[in-house]
Amino acid sequence: MKTRITELFGIEHPIVQGGMHCVGLAPLAAAVSNAGGLGIITALTLPTPEKLSEEIRRCRELTDKPFGVNLTFLPSVKQPDYPGYVRAIIEGGVKAVETAGNNPEKVLPVLHEAGVKIIHKCTSIRHALKAERIGCDAISVDGFECGGHPGEDDVPNFILLPRAAQELKVPFIASGGMADGRSLVAALALGAEGINMGTRFLATREAPVHQNVKDAIVRASELDTRLVMRPLRNTERVLTNAAVERMLQKEREFGSSIQFKDIADEVAGVYPRVMYDGEMDAGAWSCGMVAGLIDDIPSVADLIERIMSEADSIIQRRLAAIVG
Ligand SMILES: Cc1cc2nc3c(=O)[nH]c(=O)nc-3n(C[C@H](O)[C@H](O)[C@H](O)COP(=O)(O)O)c2cc1C
Repeated sequence: MKTRITELFGIEHPIVQGGMHCVGLAPLAAAVSNAGGLGIITALTLPTPEKLSEEIRRCRELTDKPFGVNLTFLPSVKQPDYPGYVRAIIEGGVKAVETAGNNPEKVLPVLHEAGVKIIHKCTSIRHALKAERIGCDAISVDGFECGGHPGEDDVPNFILLPRAAQELKVPFIASGGMADGRSLVAALALGAEGINMGTRFLATREAPVHQNVKDAIVRASELDTRLVMRPLRNTERVLTNAAVERMLQKEREFGSSIQFKDIADEVAGVYPRVMYDGEMDAGAWSCGMVAGLIDDIPSVADLIERIMSEADSIIQRRLAAIVG
């Protein structure tokens, strides 16, 4: 398949692995890139820009294909060293950056100057248009189904993607709820030029996380995610567990007066405990509704191969037969 996204990033298949905190490290990013997609290292998982430089070097040892880095701009009290991370990206020769969270305007000139292409992930048409206006090269359109932060508008991809196709001139990919060849063909039909996956890549052999995390995704159905932190306008879609239900109970009790400190126990410092120690009830961790479509833990290469051949067969056989 050749789309504006495969051309932009110099990749074989229009499949991107979204940034994932504590997951998007060199082994997964390299596996995705080696399989012909675009793997992404998640900058903020590395505690310093120096550690990000090391991770970029490690990824380069594992693949000679293009890979990218995710830069998530989140409202946090202590701001990470973003200029340092940007320097590490440029000095590491990385040519693709996925930005997410707040407006990436500040980092665009220096990244563009270094020949880096920017794909900004956002959950609404107005943010996508803004990203296009400030010069982002592509958009990742993240629907309400997605694992992680779906925003506050709650528009699912069956509406959001065609709306993006109506409004955007730059290429965009479909993010949220993507799992297989059917997702890819549907995304292309709705106007996207590729797909971005988080949860599906988390349940692969190469994802550098505890087996319990992968097993939990395989066990989960499409009914098992919850939206937390909505009262704080920082909504996150997570897999339900004891801590998540406790958190939702507090959100109901405190109502609009809730503050971050009230739920800090269920959120702060939770990711390493879940992802590396396999403590599945430690707190809230991102997971998409697409868990309901995931029932195996393949290698990344097998997964991408399967998606591409399924998409090919849907287009060449099923759809061709319908119109033919
Ligand atoms: C465990 C996990 C952690 C994530 N962490 C981040 C992150 O740090 N930054 C970011 O931009 N997106 C993050 N995401 C969102 C993904 O990049 C992607 O947009 C999302 O998973 C797409 O929806 P899907 O899970 O239905 O494929 C995370 C998703 C998951 C599942």
